[in-house]
Amino acid sequence: MARLKTAILISGRGSNMQALVDAAADTDYPAEIVSVISNVPEAGGLERAAQAGISTTAIDHRDFDGRASFENALHAELTEAGVELVCLAGFMRLLTAEFVERWFDRMINIHPSLLPAFKGLQTHERVLAEGVRFTGCTVHFVRPAMDAGPIIVQGAVPVLPGDDADSLAARVLNAEHRCYPHALRLVANGRTSIVDETVIVDGAEGPTDITVNPDDGASQRF
Ligand code: GAR
Repeated sequence: MARLKTAILISGRGSNMQALVDAAADTDYPAEIVSVISNVPEAGGLERAAQAGISTTAIDHRDFDGRASFENALHAELTEAGVELVCLAGFMRLLTAEFVERWFDRMINIHPSLLPAFKGLQTHERVLAEGVRFTGCTVHFVRPAMDAGPIIVQGAVPVLPGDDADSLAARVLNAEHRCYPHALRLVANGRTSIVDETVIVDGAEGPTDITVNPDDGASQRF
């Protein structure tokens, strides 16, 4: 079966990109990473992708006189490479509604919180300030509003006593590296459909038990 031609857009170190590239190294994986593009030429992820033998391109947004011309160049590059699906992986440029429309239902993103909670930046700091017991990550189809769109996969991560933003970010990142390849597999296998702006996953099963936090054993009894 033909694999889904996928591009990954990054702005930084590219650890999620690496997780997708590693998954797609298996020829049975239903997506093929055909291009990695960064708006930041010095992004560490570009080097990592090149080492994995993937075609890389830097399109520096500062070389353009506006969002529209930057996004036209991005769109041309994606079209040229025959891309069928775009994965945003730490791509830190807001995209215009026009660009999102061009890739409607063909562009997904990962965000380090359980959306719709904690959209935007500094998620882990805000999670800690709110004292929530769980956070996590979300892979979703992209819509024009920031960090919004039909949810494909979420990974729940406990907030633990003594956490700071760095320890929490590391635990969430670990979940991201599991969730993103899982979500891309579901999409590339054609198992996702969007009904009333929610994602139905064909044949999906959920976890069989609830998770309670804090859990000192007593939560099982009372
Ligand atoms: C990841 O934690 C990703 O969820 C986040 O940026 C990080 C990129 O790390 N994305 C956002 O905050 C988007 N709103 P990576 O470059 O190592 O994948």
